[in-house]
Amino acid sequence: MAKILVLYYSTWGHIETMAGAIAEGAKGVAGSEVTIKRVPETMPEETIKAIHAKTDQAAPIAKPEELAEYDAIIFGTPTRFGNMCGQMRNFLDQTGALWTKGSLIGKVGSVFASTATQHGGQETTITSFHTTLLHQGMVIVGLPYSNPGLTNMDEITGGTPYGATTLSKGDGSRMPSANELTLARAQGKHVAEIAAKLAR
Ligand SMILES: Cc1cc2nc3c(=O)[nH]c(=O)nc-3n(C[C@H](O)[C@H](O)[C@H](O)COP(=O)(O)O)c2cc1C
Repeated sequence: MAKILVLYYSTWGHIETMAGAIAEGAKGVAGSEVTIKRVPETMPEETIKAIHAKTDQAAPIAKPEELAEYDAIIFGTPTRFGNMCGQMRNFLDQTGALWTKGSLIGKVGSVFASTATQHGGQETTITSFHTTLLHQGMVIVGLPYSNPGLTNMDEITGGTPYGATTLSKGDGSRMPSANELTLARAQGKHVAEIAAKLAR
């Protein structure tokens, strides 16, 4: 039995949708127990309203200390200036007590992301996120090139060997494509398989 947490933040629902696909892939691995949670919102109420953020997200809010309960954590974040979003950063910056105790050492960590534009920093968001996970002693897992969707050149698509990604467009009108969701499911499955091997 491997306990897997899909932990995300999403302003307009793109990463929320990707989180669902990641969880679906992980659930397909026998013995996986998969939970989806969000990190808390940090924007003021008036900003949330002004930018029409998606407020009807069903996933419960996680607490930093509960990360220790899982064998693998798959983190999802929209890109902010080429990096993870502040909501996720704020959450991770409350995991100092876990770091002190070494509570996350040896657990699997994996990251998926979303940008508005094709070259807006998907890779930098994921690889810079990995720095925090390595400080916590986590074992980084990406998305292998054995997934054919990663070499799809027939359409504009997200998807990197570092983790699944999607593209939202500047106005947020583009939702995750079939190719991107397939890659998200593949990442969830890959992480769950490795977590199961490590948990054995
Ligand atoms: C403050 C801010 C900074 C952003 N920075 C970037 C960026 O560097 N590159 C990019 O392509 N998109 C950027 N975006 C767009 C978001 O990444 C995009 O809205 C997000 O991926 C959509 O996912 P979500 O609906 O799950 O929040 C930014 C958005 C905001 C609000």
